[in-house]
Amino acid sequence: MKFSVAVKGADVSKDIGCCDTFLIFEEKRGRIIMRQIIENPGYKPDLLPGFLDRLKIEAILCGSMDELTMQVFTSKGINVVTGVSGNADRIADQYAITSKKQANMKSCLQPMPKVLVSCRGLNGENNVLAVGYCGNCSYDPPMVMVGIVPTRYSYQMVKESGCFVVNLVDKSYRETFDYLGSHSKRDGDKLTAMNVRLQDGKKVNAPILPDCPVNIECKVVDSIVTGSHEMFIGRIEYVHADAKFVDLEGNIDFSQIDFI
Ligand SMILES: Cc1cc2nc3c(=O)[nH]c(=O)nc-3n(C[C@H](O)[C@H](O)[C@H](O)COP(=O)(O)O)c2cc1C
Repeated sequence: MKFSVAVKGADVSKDIGCCDTFLIFEEKRGRIIMRQIIENPGYKPDLLPGFLDRLKIEAILCGSMDELTMQVFTSKGINVVTGVSGNADRIADQYAITSKKQANMKSCLQPMPKVLVSCRGLNGENNVLAVGYCGNCSYDPPMVMVGIVPTRYSYQMVKESGCFVVNLVDKSYRETFDYLGSHSKRDGDKLTAMNVRLQDGKKVNAPILPDCPVNIECKVVDSIVTGSHEMFIGRIEYVHADAKFVDLEGNIDFSQIDFI
């Protein structure tokens, strides 16, 4: 972010109209990475904001500013900070530290995983949905968790069967992933529509997706309703992985998988 401080001598100018120079700063992650001195081009309330706007600054700091100039700065999207005094460089350092903006909270943990969770209802019906709310949650015993919104068609299947499979997805399966994450089985047989191949799990009564490089069979040991999602905690019962990714100790070389 670029910002400017109106300066008289070495201090912040008491009034923007009588400053000698403008210090232009660029900050990145709270540190000043560029400092430039610009002579005051001559104070005119309607000209000064345009002059600084062309330098792409996002904030101007000074002691005080008349109402008209303030309005012109604000109309250009430049944040006006008045009531500032003291050494201009010290003020700039302090301002840079507080430059981060408040952002929205929803899904702010990124990058979000993209997996396909496969499941089977008590009547034998299979289903698959895309899941982003998931993660490792214990390595001893090995466990993962997946978050499913109760309105999903798959939700009841996992709830009743007490098991699911987490399938890691690579780029070759992108189209299928998008389809399974945007169509509900409630509205039609999406698995047939996308020719999704299924195989029975080894340890749990849910299908695995053999076209995905890694399939993690899980038994539900607990669940927590966190809000929008119910987080199902799954104890890992078996992990299938394409042979070319597995070394002699059984470790998967995840760096070879071209994840979506
Ligand atoms: C990238 C992506 C991530 C998603 N993450 C979740 C998730 O974590 N939990 C969830 O319940 N739905 C999630 N969805 C939405 C479901 O996959 C989608 O609603 C799906 O159609 C549900 O299928 P179903 O009704 O057949 O179970 C996600 C969709 C996409 C595209």
